[in-house]
Amino acid sequence: MVSLRLMWGLLVLCVVAASPPRYARQAELDNYDNNNVDLDLNVEGGDLYDYYDEIDETQIEIDTLGPDEDIDPSNGASFEEEEEGEEKNVEHEEQEERRTVEEIDHKELPIKPQLIPSGSGESGTLMGPSAQGGMATCMLCTCLVGSVYCDDLKLDRVPPLAKETTHFYARYNKIARISKSDFANLNKLKRIDLTSNGISRIDDDAFFGLPALEELILRENSIRQLPALPPSMSLIDACHNQLGNTGIQREAFKDMPGLLYLYLTDNNIDHIPVPLPDSLRSLHLQNNNIQMMHEDTFCNPHDLNYIRNALEDVRLDGNPINLSRTPQAYICLPRIPVGALI
Ligand SMILES: *[C@@H]1O[C@H](CO)[C@@H](O)[C@H](O)[C@H]1NC(C)=O
Repeated sequence: MVSLRLMWGLLVLCVVAASPPRYARQAELDNYDNNNVDLDLNVEGGDLYDYYDEIDETQIEIDTLGPDEDIDPSNGASFEEEEEGEEKNVEHEEQEERRTVEEIDHKELPIKPQLIPSGSGESGTLMGPSAQGGMATCMLCTCLVGSVYCDDLKLDRVPPLAKETTHFYARYNKIARISKSDFANLNKLKRIDLTSNGISRIDDDAFFGLPALEELILRENSIRQLPALPPSMSLIDACHNQLGNTGIQREAFKDMPGLLYLYLTDNNIDHIPVPLPDSLRSLHLQNNNIQMMHEDTFCNPHDLNYIRNALEDVRLDGNPINLSRTPQAYICLPRIPVGALI
């Protein structure tokens, strides 16, 4: 909502600025000498003040939308009042907002609680397992179509999510544990972003049953064991965790035919997690403890015609490995991995 209004403001600014003011054009006709430069600037300067006024108004509106104080889940109901007037607007703008949101995927969004009317007076506690839990979550988080944004709200667990949720963001919270029930039955969930929480434990079946899950971002947590993930994955980001030699299950990525990006930078992994699916484009393993490379890690020593076209971005810098020792290991790759060659 906020970025949409800002963009609208900018658009107005551009459109008006693009067409020379009427007075300036008149001035051009009257004066063909150098003086008209000054005149132009003055007139445009005056108009510019109007533009600033417009922007200021937008700014004031924005300020009133965002809650400044920390949000306590138990106070969620207090948002009902102030949000009632917003509701109609929200509905009209949802479609456009969704587009904006997808574009700025990775950026932080300001928090704006949104009311979804709770039919009965007793809408259930926010963290309760009630069927209305997903609605209560939208009083605390921002819900836009299928996306639920709960960034930076001091949450200590995953809030109840509506079945329609496709994208879930809970970055910069204090979630320590992911249980099996947190994402149970969310059959449309495509993306989960839990960057920078305090996650140290994940139930092994917490994500495996999600048939549509494609992107899982678990950066900057304290995870020791990567849970089993469904075959639908395209991006897995578990950088900056505590994955050690037993942190990744055997053949963890073998049955993911659409996996494109595997980011495991800044862990303590001591081997390359083979076999890697042919679809893989990027493998980031910087700053780990990998010491060995085998001839069949990427390529097939028995089939010299085998080419792994997709894998063009392998990062092994920051590992105690000498890539020069295994020149045969890269013959099927479009590019030699980045890392120490001496
Ligand atoms: C790395 O491997 C190459 C090829 O075997 C060898 O010549 C070189 O001395 C090795 N470097 C180190 C630092 O071990």
